[in-house]
Amino acid sequence: MCGIVGYIGKQETTKILLDGLKELEYRGYDSAGIAVLKKDKIDVFKALGKLINLEEKVKTSASNDYELGIGHTRWATHGKPTELNAHPHLGEYSYVVHNGIIENYKELKEELSSKGHKFVSQTDTEVIVHLFENFYNQLNDTKKAFQNTISRLEGAFSILLITKADPTKIFFFKHGSPLIVAQGNEKEEVLFSSSDAPLIGLASSVVYLEDGVGGIASANEIEFFNDNYSWSSLPTSKQFAQKDGYRFFMEKEIYEQSTVVSDCMIGRLKDNEILFDEIESSIIDGINEIKICACGTSYHAGLTASYLFERLSKVKCNVEIASEFRYKDPLLTKDTLFIVISQSGETADTLEALKMAKKAGLKTLVVCNVDNSSMTRTADATILTRAGIEKGVASTKAFSTQTVVLWMLALYFAKAKNVISDEVLQKELHTLREVPKSLCISDKIHEKMKRLSKRYLHGHGFFFIGRDVFFPLALEGALKLKEISYLHAEGYPAGEMKHGPIALADPELFTIALMPQNLLYDKIKSNVEELSARDSTICAISPLDFELADDFVKINKTDHYMLEFFEMLIVLQLFSMEISIRLGNDVDMPRNLAKSVTVE
Ligand code: F6R
Repeated sequence: MCGIVGYIGKQETTKILLDGLKELEYRGYDSAGIAVLKKDKIDVFKALGKLINLEEKVKTSASNDYELGIGHTRWATHGKPTELNAHPHLGEYSYVVHNGIIENYKELKEELSSKGHKFVSQTDTEVIVHLFENFYNQLNDTKKAFQNTISRLEGAFSILLITKADPTKIFFFKHGSPLIVAQGNEKEEVLFSSSDAPLIGLASSVVYLEDGVGGIASANEIEFFNDNYSWSSLPTSKQFAQKDGYRFFMEKEIYEQSTVVSDCMIGRLKDNEILFDEIESSIIDGINEIKICACGTSYHAGLTASYLFERLSKVKCNVEIASEFRYKDPLLTKDTLFIVISQSGETADTLEALKMAKKAGLKTLVVCNVDNSSMTRTADATILTRAGIEKGVASTKAFSTQTVVLWMLALYFAKAKNVISDEVLQKELHTLREVPKSLCISDKIHEKMKRLSKRYLHGHGFFFIGRDVFFPLALEGALKLKEISYLHAEGYPAGEMKHGPIALADPELFTIALMPQNLLYDKIKSNVEELSARDSTICAISPLDFELADDFVKINKTDHYMLEFFEMLIVLQLFSMEISIRLGNDVDMPRNLAKSVTVE
């Protein structure tokens, strides 16, 4: 998703901007650009594709004494990924970068066109800079022109704007999409970014802007338009994820799962109970229902949790895809605990769903990987997943930590409601302690997935099938494969196959069957037999040998289905990754995808 950086100061502006954009690269983008200003001359550089293309352009024609600049990585929403549509966007004498969507851009474009403004791109963003110049031409006051501009915009927007009319300043505003302002470590230095990463090491004091807050920055002053802001400190340790010898961030993150899942249990998994310092057990008082809302992989973690909340906490639980939930006029009652799940904490649909629930007076809780994100700042309570920065676009360790947190939460509620026997609780706690071991990857299993992958590079589709919690796991396995291999895959409840999809069965239909020993084994076995009888090619993942399988991945025997769940998760993640590698795809930055989807 789009990223923003900005800089005022004496260091080399182009370098700071490009380094900042590199830190945002993992979020996904298709073009990038910077606008840099010296005296009252603005130079602009834009390039399609990877940042290296932009770097080349800057290297050949930029000077190195710019006083300020703004930069952007664009993930196309309105208008194709072209150089013309890349930010920064130009009026007559000003440039703007923008994250989000201007919903009323068509009306504004018509209005401004009728006044003689010429538009060159297909983007919604371009109206911002023309609107600004339209006001400035009337008022001859940059601050008023910027404020008037903001008041006309509808939608979500984080903006940085520079103008020759006031060449020592960066105008900024945040509404909907994240934006941070930072006081640089050097004298008379101000930085901007849409996330922490580009600022670490360059600044220690930051304002995470709230919606509706903006201002004007110059080298020696940051003026805010209202008082709704506070300075906080930025972590100084560089937690930038490096690949550590792995071929891809995704691979590193798959391998990290055992460790991050341990981290996520520290201090929470006690001898005889679960403790969450960050919430009160009274959060479950008066609650008759849990509603979970999320997107993509986080939705799959939510769906997994719904089985656990009902089974362990004995509380009704339903799960909704956030983009569906938002527009269905949902009935929200105050006896519902509203839980959103998000790796980034910035996903637009999930954030809006959270705001709707809050407005309806529900208790809200976010399970999130990024502190200080929009969701953690909005929800009543937060549980952090502690997975560390996830750089691979295809989510892996976020899912395992989310699932573990939600499983612990189910037990926490079960205890608080007194609906779980000591014996069952002890068994669950013991099993949780075993999860990091289940997530350890042996050379043998990785080799097996490497070898197996070569047989699954074609065919007319994949069905991943499972039952109970293995159904959301099947959905997750299919999503991983789609995302990075571009092969068609579907996750399905195994028992549903005979209600339609089985019509597709033939040797070129690949069925990935999740067959745990500890949960509904006989049921899933007969579902797989039905597919085998129709000659579908079966790859079974199970601790128990299964003679009808064309391929068989044996996982360890355990005494709990959740341990089988995590062992299978590893198998599925490696399977997708190895197929993607064989197909020569960009594993970490798959086509058309963005890491953090901050538009609806
Ligand atoms: C899949 C993936 C996406 C995200 C989804 C929600 O690998 O990464 O499906 O899970 O966009 O993102 P978050 O969790 O940041 O809200």
